[in-house]
Amino acid sequence: MFLPQEIIRKKRDRHELSEADIAAFVQGVTAGQVTDSQIAALAMAVFFNDMSVAERVAMTRAMRDSGQVLEWRSLNLPGPVVDKHSTGGVGDLTSLLLGPMVAACGGFVPMISGRGLGHTGGTLDKLDAIPGYNTAPDIDTFRRLVREVGVVIIGQTAQLAPADKRIYAVRDVTATVESVAMITASILSKKLSAGLDALVMDVKAGSGAFMPTFEKSVELAESIVSVGNGAGMKTAALLTDMNQSLAPCAGNAIEIRCTIDYLTGKQRPTRLHEVTMALSARMLLVSGLAQTETEARSKLQQALDSGHAAARFAHMVTSLGGPADLLEAPDRYLAVAPVAVPVIAPRNGYIHTVDCRGLGLTVVSLGGGRHRAEDGIDYAVGLTDLAELGQRIEAGQPIAMVHARDNDAAQQGVASVLAAYQFADTAPTLPPTVYRDIS
Ligand code: URA
Repeated sequence: MFLPQEIIRKKRDRHELSEADIAAFVQGVTAGQVTDSQIAALAMAVFFNDMSVAERVAMTRAMRDSGQVLEWRSLNLPGPVVDKHSTGGVGDLTSLLLGPMVAACGGFVPMISGRGLGHTGGTLDKLDAIPGYNTAPDIDTFRRLVREVGVVIIGQTAQLAPADKRIYAVRDVTATVESVAMITASILSKKLSAGLDALVMDVKAGSGAFMPTFEKSVELAESIVSVGNGAGMKTAALLTDMNQSLAPCAGNAIEIRCTIDYLTGKQRPTRLHEVTMALSARMLLVSGLAQTETEARSKLQQALDSGHAAARFAHMVTSLGGPADLLEAPDRYLAVAPVAVPVIAPRNGYIHTVDCRGLGLTVVSLGGGRHRAEDGIDYAVGLTDLAELGQRIEAGQPIAMVHARDNDAAQQGVASVLAAYQFADTAPTLPPTVYRDIS
């Protein structure tokens, strides 16, 4: 007989759970036989007593199998099915760039993205800034478009890994989110249910990262690589910097403009380009589309220079209901905030530290993110022209532009950007943009 309390007791007493224990518990969660209190108790036991790699793999697989698992084999795609996932950041629009780039290099990217969470932006909210873009097509349309376009970015469906949804909701209100074992299973169950051959994980470190310390970011990256590979999906991870906004802008319509400028070659901000190239090169390598880093980078650069990556993005947008001339006439479609105010540097000096989380929360306060899940979003607002770490600034020079709905919101935005930037007389040591490749 299935008794959830026996499984909880075993973990409480520091014994290793078997694959069968974990499968039974997760099936019980999905079927409604396990109560919220039992989920909370197991989550707390795992938080304190941890899980081995074998347990994490079993948990990930069981959560994957709690719902629909996409399969691509029957489509006979002429290339690997590969995706990238990140732990979340500010001004991080790499998904919108590397999806089309990898598709232009022969990969198939069925990307299932999330909404903004806390101070971080969400790819789905950015895509919703494009009028007409449907982030929730049915699965048959999704599969057909992945085959036709090579890249399709949509939202999480209720059918994929439903056990994670229930377990995450309980973790969120019982102070048990911060378990590397459970974060790993939560992220990977969703990625495995998308039927990927290969995954590259972007784990952020720094003042805007989801993980609280550099060491914890390393631990999560290592866990994801061992568990992803253990569950049969080729998995690699890069540890990248989130001590400042990745792009010099943050906001929804604002980041779509940045996407268009990047793909069409109008502007490729250095750090954004570095992280996008590093992640997409890893995607080509891990999925077998390139044999060396040099080959991968040269293919990706060609995808950009030839306009093929931009064309894939445009094709994705129109296939999902967006405007056919978005890339040619973005101003016709993307919202612009009525008020734009510069943030003026109060003193001379170097930008020494940036509270990146604070910058993300500024965008949320302007209306560009949510305080509660049911809140609406103002796609037009956000920040542009953000000064970078190490930049020399003279008093009176702008360090950012705040784009707001009204003057009051703009003034609050200016104050919180100023609070996020610290100046010093000497130049700081700059963090690397990509810290480590964990494979
Ligand atoms: N993101 C997820 O999807 N799951 C977690 O547990 C944490 C972050």
